[in-house]
Amino acid sequence: MDKAAETQMEIVISKDVISRRVQELGQEISRDMKERDLVVVGVLKGAYIFMADLVRNLTIPAKMDFVRLKSYGQETESSGQVTITKDVEGEIELRDRNVLVIEDIVDTGLTLDFLKKHLEQHKPREVKICALIDKLERRERYVDLDYVGFEVAQGYLVGYGLDAAEEYRCLPDIYELKL
Ligand code: IMP
Ligand code: MG
Repeated sequence: MDKAAETQMEIVISKDVISRRVQELGQEISRDMKERDLVVVGVLKGAYIFMADLVRNLTIPAKMDFVRLKSYGQETESSGQVTITKDVEGEIELRDRNVLVIEDIVDTGLTLDFLKKHLEQHKPREVKICALIDKLERRERYVDLDYVGFEVAQGYLVGYGLDAAEEYRCLPDIYELKL
C-alpha cells in the first residue's frame, strides 16, 4: 500500500463494505432473474474485479462475455467519444436473452448509453445495467441503472478495478484520488 501512502488518497469504500454490498446485489439479481437465460456482459477493464465477485454471488446460471470501450485514454475526464475496442464475440447468443451489463462506475453516462444501444442491436429480451458506483456529479446522459452498488457525489475514484492511467486497479478498497 506504499503507493497509496505517497499519493494523496483516502479510503471512501472499504473492502468489507464492498463485499457485503456485492453479496446483496448478487442475491437481488438472482431473485429478479430466476429461471431466465442470463448473459452477463462485463465492461473491461474496470469492471473485471467487481464482476468476478458478483458472479460468484449469483445463485442462478449465467454465461459471461466482455466488451471493452474507450472514452478516457490517459485522462481523468471523458473525451466524450466512445469507441468499442472489443465487442461481444458471438459464441454466446444474445438474441432473446436477458443481458446484464456490469460496469465499474457511471460518470457522464455516455459509455453506458452507447453500450446499451449497441447491445440492443442483438435483439436481446432486455438489457439491464448493474454499476458498482453511480457518480452523480457530471451526468450528461440519463441512463436507467437497474442495480447500483454505491452512490457517490463526486471525486475521482481508484481501486477494486478502477484505475487512473492504469494504476491502482489491484487495491482491494476504493479510494478517492486527490488530483
Ligand atoms: P462515462 O462514459 O463518463 O459515464 O464514463 C464511464 C467510464 O469512465 C467508466 O467506465 C470508467 O472507466 C471511467 N471513469 C469515470 N469516472 C471514474 C473514476 O472516478 N475513476 C475511474 N474511472 C472512472
Ligand atoms: Mg469503465
